[in-house]
Amino acid sequence: MTSLEAVHMVAQQLDESGVPSSRVDAEILVAEVLGLTRSALYSADTQLSEKHALRLRSLVDRRRAREPLAYILGEWGFRRLTLKVDRRVLVPRPETEVLVERCLEHLRDRAEPRVLDVGVGSGAIALAIADEHPAARVLAVDRSADALAAARENSDRAPVDGRIEFRQGDLLAGISGPFDLVVSNPPYVSPEDFDTLEPEVRLFEPREAIVGVGVGAEIARAARAVLAPGGWLLLECGDGQAADLAAELERLGYLDVVRTRDLAERERVVEGRWA
Ligand SMILES: C[S@@+](CC[C@H](N)C(=O)[O-])C[C@H]1O[C@@H](n2cnc3c(N)ncnc32)[C@H](O)[C@@H]1O
Repeated sequence: MTSLEAVHMVAQQLDESGVPSSRVDAEILVAEVLGLTRSALYSADTQLSEKHALRLRSLVDRRRAREPLAYILGEWGFRRLTLKVDRRVLVPRPETEVLVERCLEHLRDRAEPRVLDVGVGSGAIALAIADEHPAARVLAVDRSADALAAARENSDRAPVDGRIEFRQGDLLAGISGPFDLVVSNPPYVSPEDFDTLEPEVRLFEPREAIVGVGVGAEIARAARAVLAPGGWLLLECGDGQAADLAAELERLGYLDVVRTRDLAERERVVEGRWA
């Protein structure tokens, strides 16, 4: 079987199992097995050996069971980094890249900013900030020991020179500032909505990373005690939650409250300045 025949066959199998973006996923899986880039699949119509075919079948079976592509590949791109990801952590999302972009905008003119990332997960936000601001120091907190272990593994592979400290804890409990910026992508899906999510999320990603009600507001309340005057709070939220969260930030005394849209034009980031 050639690589292009394999792509065609796998795309059809994924389609039958209801996998969205079946063609792209098929290309990625065949390329992974052959050790090629996706575009190289089209320039060299390589033959699959029996070993390739066996490995491909096992990866395709996992994808047909709706396991996220990121867990199957074992790594996922986030801004300039490639992060190791597995079932201990949420797969980093494109909207979180927008959150990081907003953080960097506020940190640009600060020489050695101190940053707090609440709910570090894979390390996506903390690591991207430390990678893209060469003097930022980040305290990264998570309740999950598994997530912290994964984030530490990613930190060891990233060019962040030990500028990230990891700590196990519940939100901001026991943390003292001052921080120039507090950022969080907290769990924000209600338990009722969780049951309606796609199988990739519902069946494979850690529930404690997804399900939460009012966590962003709780972080906004607690962050007031650790933010330096003029420091910024930035929160990711679910589609349809930004207006309420922005109103809550204003009620809590934050100034210059702004909502930012993701690439799909949905308001997903809310930020405010602590006076
Ligand atoms: C939506 S995930 C975000 C992960 C990562 N920051 C990202 O953006 O990809 C939320 C993270 O918050 C952590 N978490 C949930 N509740 C928490 C709590 N009460 N205290 C600390 N961390 C918590 C979860 O373990 C999970 O790693």
